[in-house]
Amino acid sequence: MITGSCGLIGSEVCIHLARNGYQIFGVDNNERAVFFGPEGDTSWSLSRLKQNIPGYVHSDLDIRNRAGIGQLLAQVLPQAIVHTAAQPSHDRAAAIPFDDFETNAVGTLNLLESARQACPESPFVHMSTNKVYGDLPNTIPMKELADRWDYDDPAFAHGIPETFSIDQSKHSLFGASKVAADVMVQEYGRYFGMPTCCLRGGCLTGPNHSGVELHGFLSYLVRCNVEGREYKIFGYKGKQVRDNIHSEDVANFIVAFCDAPRAGEVYNIGGGKENSCSILEAFARVEKLTGKPQRSTYLDQNRIGDHICYYSDLRKMRSHYPKWGITRTLQNVFEEIVEAWQRKLAQPASQASH
Ligand SMILES: NC(=O)c1ccc[n+]([C@@H]2O[C@H](COP(=O)([O-])OP(=O)(O)OC[C@H]3O[C@@H](n4cnc5c(N)ncnc54)[C@H](O)[C@@H]3O)[C@@H](O)[C@H]2O)c1
Repeated sequence: MITGSCGLIGSEVCIHLARNGYQIFGVDNNERAVFFGPEGDTSWSLSRLKQNIPGYVHSDLDIRNRAGIGQLLAQVLPQAIVHTAAQPSHDRAAAIPFDDFETNAVGTLNLLESARQACPESPFVHMSTNKVYGDLPNTIPMKELADRWDYDDPAFAHGIPETFSIDQSKHSLFGASKVAADVMVQEYGRYFGMPTCCLRGGCLTGPNHSGVELHGFLSYLVRCNVEGREYKIFGYKGKQVRDNIHSEDVANFIVAFCDAPRAGEVYNIGGGKENSCSILEAFARVEKLTGKPQRSTYLDQNRIGDHICYYSDLRKMRSHYPKWGITRTLQNVFEEIVEAWQRKLAQPASQASH
């Protein structure tokens, strides 16, 4: 069972798990269209799932509907649950704090408790976020290199580990509702012994993502280059660093966890240091691939709480699941995204919106 099955991550996970022989039961009520208006509508994604996944079954239940979720899990008895349904935006959260918390925190609790009643042995994978660390990563001493910031503390040479504090920093309301869910998922593992894990994602990306200015940095940056559109850099001299992971590598990890689950685990999932790049470095890579100069403007004001440098320490994931690893290099990720945008933008407007 995949919640948020029509979303960015959920739909990729559905397709990947179906390829791995799982029968897919999707749950998504298209709440994204309520959060973001018509641009957020995911009906097209539902059609894509129905076309591409033989035997795909869908429920448009709201995860806030506690009784409904309880009945659904008791009926379906899923072999594994991948929870990606969420209100995913910082900016929206401040405008709709109750919808945000009720979806992200209470919706997650509804699913956990229903799973405990119906199928406590089934692995439960929760998509958390690196925003649970709030802006605390910005307190690590940084060094300024020619094109990027980097940590100036050997303790973080491999990136941010799962032991990093999630406390006493600024998260945004979205980050706070995701912290509540993250801790509850851990608790169902630790207190009840259920096979749960939280995946604290960095930048999850790939050719099927439709990046927009505030969400999906790499996809949006590539789109701007291909379209000759101006990209706005928000502060930090354009040297802010993100690690990028292809959605298939995320899905591979989910399969690995479901095959050999553990209880109450937390993993930082991202591309790691090797797949990290700054905005300036991303410009150079995309320009080389497309042969087009990147147009940009610089605003000397960073986004509130934006990380100066963030890359995930992948050593815990690798030690628990040694067969898992990053299969797409940063160059592969760029090539696939460039190719996808060139293809999408060459289509007639009626087909190109997604
Ligand atoms: N995209 C990223 O780079 C990224 C990075 C880190 C973490 N994450 C996390 O991964 C998860 C998925 O993110 P995404 O980018 O795919 O978001 P998304 O908005 O594309 O997908 C979420 C889906 O959940 C559905 N949904 C929302 N509220 C619902 C409700 N009440 N009941 C049923 N369905 C509901 C929406 O309709 C949407 O299709 C989120 O928890 C997010 O915090 C994403």
